[in-house]
Amino acid sequence: MTKTLTITTPDDFHVHLRDDALMASVVPYTAKQFARALVMPNLKPPITTVDQAIQYESRIKSALESYNHFQPLMTLYLTDKTSLDEIKKIPEYKQIVGIKYYPAGATTNSDSGVRNIDDRYDVFELMEKLDVALLLHGEVVDPGIDIFDREKVFIDQHLLKIHKTFPNLRIVLEHITTKDSTDFILSSSKKVAATITPQHLLLNRNHMFVGGINPHHYCLPILKREAHRQALLSAASSGNSKFFLGTDSAPHLKSTKENACGCAGIFSAASAIELYAEVFDELNAIDKLEGFASFYGADFYGLERNKSSINLIKEDWVVPEKITVGDEAIIPLYAGRKISWRVI
Ligand code: NCD
Ligand code: ZN
Repeated sequence: MTKTLTITTPDDFHVHLRDDALMASVVPYTAKQFARALVMPNLKPPITTVDQAIQYESRIKSALESYNHFQPLMTLYLTDKTSLDEIKKIPEYKQIVGIKYYPAGATTNSDSGVRNIDDRYDVFELMEKLDVALLLHGEVVDPGIDIFDREKVFIDQHLLKIHKTFPNLRIVLEHITTKDSTDFILSSSKKVAATITPQHLLLNRNHMFVGGINPHHYCLPILKREAHRQALLSAASSGNSKFFLGTDSAPHLKSTKENACGCAGIFSAASAIELYAEVFDELNAIDKLEGFASFYGADFYGLERNKSSINLIKEDWVVPEKITVGDEAIIPLYAGRKISWRVI
């Protein structure tokens, strides 16, 4: 018997759309699957002011004539110079839902990030007061710290202290990759949540290295060992509302990934909800998909749950080998692989 599944239209609480022509080519994929998406501000130069965020929002909307139900949610990029006056403007704009912290130099377009997080407690104090969420790229960048330990060390050195100092500050630990993170989230208050990507649910670090180096599986935080992936699978499929969907889908052209210095990031937007469905079904937890994908993120951000729905059918299909953008291609997550759920 054919299996179908109807769920409330999901939201993506962490996506990279970039700008200009590249944004115009990728945003329809996100808008087709999701009602809303929280768009990361790591453009070049980054989105650091309310005005820039509002202008970026309108560029995204105007790239999308045929999906105008889609609502981008915006965030400002925290820098060493972000002023308290800028933060004070945020509550007037309901589409700006938080501030994104990147440690300087941690990942793609993060040069303007914060050099020393302890120096921005003034901002966190104000955000707590105004109830503006803090979205964390939770890694340290100290070259002395092993790349596989950077998330855990961030929790130990910084996050525990921030949460303790600002207990009412809403915090999202983005794209978590470790059991250390699931443990931290589970042991902290309701003010703290986490997003989980499809790649960190589907892949472990072997997928990057075994049989030859695979640049299309390189993202940050880097894929971890299998025990960590198992912790993420349990967290995502547990029905615990502190874990919700954020793809971290990031469009990088094939030529920049298949490169002597390949860049970090994985594109999953074109088949994101199907990939999550695949994961949840394999865990016999397809009934937990809707909470994770469509409810918990909206609830955490104090947004209304979506009223529309999408239908999925259990039917084998193959993720495209590539997605053409201009004369170039993006290689999507699970390119050329068979998966068993699709949106109808
Ligand atoms: C992201 C990107 O490409 O913008 N890359 C990634 O590896 N995840 C940035 C980020 O979220 O780290
Ligand atoms: Zn990201």
